[in-house]
Amino acid sequence: MAEKHEIVIERTSSSRLAQIDFANLTFGAEFSDHMFVVDYIDGQWVNPKITPFQNLSVSPSMTALHYGQTIFEGLKAFKNTEGEISVFRPLEHAKRLNTSAERLCMATLPEELFMDGLKTLLKVDKDWVPSEEGCSLYIRPMMIATDVALGVSPAKSYKFIIFTSPVASYYAGSVKVLAETEYTRAAEGGTGFIKAGGNYAASLLPAKNALDKGYDQVLWTDGKEHKYVEECGTMNVMFQIGDTLITPATGTSVLSGITRKSIIALAQHWGYKIEERKLSLEELKEASANDELKDAFGTGTAATITHISHIGIGDTVLELPAENEREFSNKAQDYLTRLKAGQAEDFMGWMEKM
Ligand code: COI
Repeated sequence: MAEKHEIVIERTSSSRLAQIDFANLTFGAEFSDHMFVVDYIDGQWVNPKITPFQNLSVSPSMTALHYGQTIFEGLKAFKNTEGEISVFRPLEHAKRLNTSAERLCMATLPEELFMDGLKTLLKVDKDWVPSEEGCSLYIRPMMIATDVALGVSPAKSYKFIIFTSPVASYYAGSVKVLAETEYTRAAEGGTGFIKAGGNYAASLLPAKNALDKGYDQVLWTDGKEHKYVEECGTMNVMFQIGDTLITPATGTSVLSGITRKSIIALAQHWGYKIEERKLSLEELKEASANDELKDAFGTGTAATITHISHIGIGDTVLELPAENEREFSNKAQDYLTRLKAGQAEDFMGWMEKM
């Protein structure tokens, strides 16, 4: 956008708010009344607007549908006890969206347009932000290539949308994960570090196989040797061996998670030992055999902090300590919950008032 555009607001005439059972939310099943939309045409972001949440009409030849130029983000808005609405680290998400866009040769979006669109949308749909414990308004920004063409080349036109969904936690409790040593989610040099739609498509078959074996999620290993732990697809992972927290280093095959980064910062602030490095399945097995594997948990916007109860590695199943014995992850979870509810000091400056 060359100059600041006014965001035009078209309000719905038939709100669905009254139909929502806020006491029984599931993840991503209901969508709020409005969405923010802006188009990239002839090298400019144009016509930013808030419209009623609605279907898109697209050509079957639209390039995003064929060649996967589609990226997204996930962030959350919370309501504090005074009814004020805050979002957790929105600018970080605007920046990561642009990292994703650059990797897939898509148009980048000015951060101020991301923030203005988000703020305007949340003002219009403020009543959709749940105040129930453990609930939030999940925010889904997305960008798709909208060229009508069949040649394989970067599109010239894009659509950026933000829509929202009132949600409870992604996982109901702790999860069992199965280490994947046949399929690959992402390889070094690939797109694993960004939020590209295709990363999630590639994860579905192995995830289904893991589910069939009684697990909740896949624990991905590196694409080269299938020896080192990477992430879970829906969340980054962290472990505690002895008194040291360990999380796989990100590189180009592991999502650069904003919750991950926040948990690392909290650990450092509180004086815990934390290492970002390669962690092999063998090291996990050995630590478990020596009673040194104290904690394992996932981190992500949707998952927040989700404890891992069991890790399947081939025929071996590692059992983690009871959830109430996990000192660091419980402390971090408690702090983040209180922070988001406006009940803990925001000493890192992570909550942005909308
Ligand atoms: C998020 O945590 O926001 C994600 O994008 C994960 C998604 C698979 C639900």
